[in-house]
Amino acid sequence: MDKLFGRYKLVRQVWDGAMSSVYEARDQCDGARVAIKYAKGGEASHLRNNVLRLEREAVALWRLRHPCIVRMIDARRHGDSYCLVVEYLEGMTIAEKIYHDSHLPYAVAVKVMLSVLSALNAVHGLGLVHRDIKAENVMLSNGRIKLLDFGLVTMPTRKGPRRITEPMVTVGTPSCMAPEACEAVALRWDARADLYGCGHMLYEMLTGRHAFGGEARRNASARSPSPQILLMQQVHMPPLLFADAVPELRIPEGLERVVMRALEKRPEDRFQSAAEMSRALLDAVP
Ligand SMILES: Nc1ncnc2c1ncn2[C@@H]1O[C@H](COP(=O)(O)OP(=O)(O)OP(=O)(O)O)[C@@H](O)[C@H]1O
Ligand SMILES: [Mg+2]
Repeated sequence: MDKLFGRYKLVRQVWDGAMSSVYEARDQCDGARVAIKYAKGGEASHLRNNVLRLEREAVALWRLRHPCIVRMIDARRHGDSYCLVVEYLEGMTIAEKIYHDSHLPYAVAVKVMLSVLSALNAVHGLGLVHRDIKAENVMLSNGRIKLLDFGLVTMPTRKGPRRITEPMVTVGTPSCMAPEACEAVALRWDARADLYGCGHMLYEMLTGRHAFGGEARRNASARSPSPQILLMQQVHMPPLLFADAVPELRIPEGLERVVMRALEKRPEDRFQSAAEMSRALLDAVP
């Protein structure tokens, strides 16, 4: 496959994940650089689930036009698989940025988070929940912040959210999942789970460390806790105070309060909306 739909000429693979591959490509019609996310298969049932996820991502992105959300261009079936074409983002993920810089200056971290919250305000306004807010799914591209990866998005239907995964399987990234999302029967979670993900991401941007293990991204190794332990930490363990995680850190005190509120175990104790969290962030910085 070096040309797709007679239109997109593949340049290189930029990601080879469990569920999808991402390619940089060139639109032969207008010369634009695009990124193509392609559903991968192994067993037939995996391919079917991965196609469903990518279709759902396409539907969500189609409805979401926002300067802080990756812009969708095209989406089509390709044989048994499915392709999503979006704008190509030159740059790096926030996860890569944290890895390179060990942590971000607080003013930068706040700016990144305000953009993510602005994107989430639009997402939640449509009744959608992203469900995988983390530094790997936010890109810094030419000075702009873009939220991507809507592969786990939930959208309301008349019969309630539609499941792709089996009823007793959790979805999300164990190291950033809200406590209520860690339960296998988690159909009750809502936009506040995304704000928990924001709390995690802000914690990591400010300190360079994981909120529970205190482990730096650079030192993450085979010793990293298992998914089961990570889920258990989300549900039962309080996050490390900044003074214990990074004693030398100097940031406005109010910022730690914002992070800790976003990381509350019970959704009702967190910020109730992206707008509320944005206001608290703005109040916390001089
Ligand atoms: N529009 C884009 N422009 C440039 N790179 C991108 C773009 N979209 C995704 N990528 C790269 O591909 C990576 C994976 O993309 P994404 O997060 O959408 O897939 P994923 O669902 O996490 O994949 P999997 O679940 O299979 O691991 C991103 O972290 C980023 O490095
Ligand atoms: Mg991703």
